[in-house]
Amino acid sequence: MAAKVISGKEVAAEIRKELTVQVAELKEKGIVPGLGVVLVGEDPASVSYVTSKAKGCQEIGMFEETVKLAKDTAEEDVLKVIDRMNHDPKISGILVQLPLPAHISVEKVIGFISPEKDVDGFHPVNLGKLLRGEECPLPCTPHGVKQLLVRSGNDPAGKHVVICGRSNIVGKPLAAILMQKAAGANAVVTVVHTGAKDIKHYTLQADILVAAMGIPHAITADMVKEGTVVVDVGVNRVPDDTKKSGFRLAGDVDYEPIAEKASFITPVPGGVGPMTVTMLLYNTVEAAIRLNQA
Ligand code: GUN
Repeated sequence: MAAKVISGKEVAAEIRKELTVQVAELKEKGIVPGLGVVLVGEDPASVSYVTSKAKGCQEIGMFEETVKLAKDTAEEDVLKVIDRMNHDPKISGILVQLPLPAHISVEKVIGFISPEKDVDGFHPVNLGKLLRGEECPLPCTPHGVKQLLVRSGNDPAGKHVVICGRSNIVGKPLAAILMQKAAGANAVVTVVHTGAKDIKHYTLQADILVAAMGIPHAITADMVKEGTVVVDVGVNRVPDDTKKSGFRLAGDVDYEPIAEKASFITPVPGGVGPMTVTMLLYNTVEAAIRLNQA
């Protein structure tokens, strides 16, 4: 079987079109959604993500402010920027780009963002709500995965979803989202991680397999059963002398042989990547609406 490709670019464009209309309608009511982004240091991947977030905001007509801080900025000064954004009525959503330099506590920084403006959905209050099945901003990459599944006709309801990777950004929140008794979820979820004795034992049982380990081509064709829906969250920079940038992007799955067995597959790039920024824009619009209702 040759897999159908799920284009994140196309699904993201569809959602951004919906958001552009929504932002224009909000503006007519005097509400301008705004995103505040904080970047500490110059990690090339982070710089690239932050640039695409700013561009995404501009494209759909949202206000955007990016604060770039040197990598040796004191934790206290990062908190000051967040405090200012927490109180700024032009900012409806705040995102602090991760990873942060080692001298800054991620827990402290995330916990300092007002939960109402936490468009990453990483604040403990929002993660608690997520686990309890209460309304909250869904973390952007897992939310993007859910949208890709539902909009490609692969509703996870009743399916066995095997997630490889237990990060706070993807694996854990995705498991929490898909296990809920809710539309576009209601799946049986298994989370596989480095503690598993035999990863393949689990991946071979997946109706939907999500690779989010951050290891290039860690999922090989022998680990995938015929007809599985494969979602690749990996965006690994692999050295490549033939590229001007000196690297190429590689996913966590060995794409070509797996595309021969899967029923659906997401490419890298152009799969989950464009969805992450799109769901951030979505969360910011939702936050603006909620803040103006309060
Ligand atoms: N770094 C990689 N992914 C993310 C994300 O979704 N949010 C933030 N804040 N940082 C990230």
